[in-house]
Amino acid sequence: MQICRSTQTIRDCVAAWRADGQRVALVATMGALHEGHLHLLAQARDWLDAHGGGRIVTSIFVNPMQFNQPADLETYPRDEETDLAMLRRAGCDAAFLPGVRDIYRPGAQTVVEVTGLSRILMGRLRPGHFRGMTTIVTKLLNIVGPDATAFGEKDYQQLTIVRRLVADLDIPVRVIAVPTVREPDGLAMSSRNRRLTPADRAAAPVLNKALDHGQQLVARGATPAAVRTAIRRILRAEPRATIGSIDVRDADDLSRIAAIVRPVVILLAVRFGDVLLIDQRVAHP
Ligand code: PAF
Repeated sequence: MQICRSTQTIRDCVAAWRADGQRVALVATMGALHEGHLHLLAQARDWLDAHGGGRIVTSIFVNPMQFNQPADLETYPRDEETDLAMLRRAGCDAAFLPGVRDIYRPGAQTVVEVTGLSRILMGRLRPGHFRGMTTIVTKLLNIVGPDATAFGEKDYQQLTIVRRLVADLDIPVRVIAVPTVREPDGLAMSSRNRRLTPADRAAAPVLNKALDHGQQLVARGATPAAVRTAIRRILRAEPRATIGSIDVRDADDLSRIAAIVRPVVILLAVRFGDVLLIDQRVAHP
């Protein structure tokens, strides 16, 4: 696996693969890798194999622009050695680890924002977060120039925003949506899980339980309000869970809905101690 620490070295690396006729897929991460990230790599590999083979770049960059709390940025888990070992084992071809100054050069003024989708749902709780995310994703796509890029369904709003970004700016890349990977007890894998206390970790699978129930209600023809009420009841029965939000939205564009006549996404944001967990489920009427 090649290790590239500057935009120039990753550009040179990708240019050499391109000259050799290889396709390229990008998996963008902020490190603290877990099985869920490796699943993104596996799906990127499947896509490449289905398109004649190619190389995978994984970026590891803790993007300051998407943190709206300085303390979150400072305490974000960083373990480069373990991350690189995992990437090697997963068959990644190049790791891109740029420095902050290489990405945000002095004098930079440009940001990229998907205006509507970035200001709803989690965007209201974390102002500026999605603008930071779309700015770095645009930069990574410009630097690496991949044919495909894999994003997890777990961050469903992020995935929806990235799809909108790519369509609106005519970026020639295929966005691969990767289903959420779960622990055996149903908890969605996330770098945040390692910050849960043992008691909160034991309580957190209630999210998956609530989503399972919500999905069944949607299949049985329930209204969005009935789904939210049932989910709230399940979450309230878990004393360690503090509900941030429960939303049932159109699965394509995250718009509000009065009745469920098309696929919806159920979105949960729930706090355990000081750790905010998000999870989602696409459900079909
Ligand atoms: O999902 C993430 O880890 C980040 O938001 C991303 C896409 C790597 C951009 O920093």
